[in-house]
Amino acid sequence: MLGAIRKFCRHIALIILPDSDRLRFLAYKPKFEAWRKKQVGKHPIFADRTEMYDFINREIIGNQPMVYLEFGVFKGDSIKYFGGIHGNEESQFVGFDTFEGLPEDWQDFSRTLSSRTFSTDGKPPLTDDRRISFVKGLFQQTLPSFLEQYSSSKQLIIHNDSDLYSATMYVLSRANDIIVPGTIIIFDEFYSAMHEFRAFDDYCSSYMRNYEVIAAQEGHGKVAVRML
Ligand SMILES: C[S@@+](CC[C@H](N)C(=O)[O-])C[C@H]1O[C@@H](n2cnc3c(N)ncnc32)[C@H](O)[C@@H]1O
Repeated sequence: MLGAIRKFCRHIALIILPDSDRLRFLAYKPKFEAWRKKQVGKHPIFADRTEMYDFINREIIGNQPMVYLEFGVFKGDSIKYFGGIHGNEESQFVGFDTFEGLPEDWQDFSRTLSSRTFSTDGKPPLTDDRRISFVKGLFQQTLPSFLEQYSSSKQLIIHNDSDLYSATMYVLSRANDIIVPGTIIIFDEFYSAMHEFRAFDDYCSSYMRNYEVIAAQEGHGKVAVRML
């Protein structure tokens, strides 16, 4: 009897529910909230992202040389900030972006950023920090050749500020071989349950990867993890 009722309800739901990103968001958000509750009290929380970067640089990286790969650069605020607080001359900062803005629309429950948001008309930011370089193009086109010549054993930080599920999922899956235990991954829009959070969750289950959260912004909008 119960089975028949369930089957009937499922049948009705399939008829009346639209194919909607809002519904998908509502279905995914509780997973993020449950994840967030589990993390409370386990790591330091910061009021804004630069305080979180300061903590990571001071307490985790120290003065050791590192490779910092940033996916999603826009005007270069975060990559330049990291360059400014990190003093090791042997470190390398590489920023990946089309500089033509988001390749597709980004949608949350009530907000949409249309494709091309964050465009700088194809121009990478200017910098006089010789350790910073930029790789222009879609990650899906530029990352494979970058990885072919990548052989560093330095501490790796991956900063994912691409906003999108597709980009985050692609970068993590493609870079899985260089994401060794100890690699730090920073997410800038982790609260965005359908995008960066879902991509990281899917990546960890598909590649059987574990991690610990090492720092976050209040509300877990920005999150830093250490891969195990
Ligand atoms: C929120 S902005 C980055 C902001 C920057 N990190 C800062 O702190 O100001 C997101 C960037 O990701 C880039 N992006 C998203 N998906 C991409 C993809 N698949 N390939 C290349 N760039 C991408 C967009 O062009 C955009 O500039």
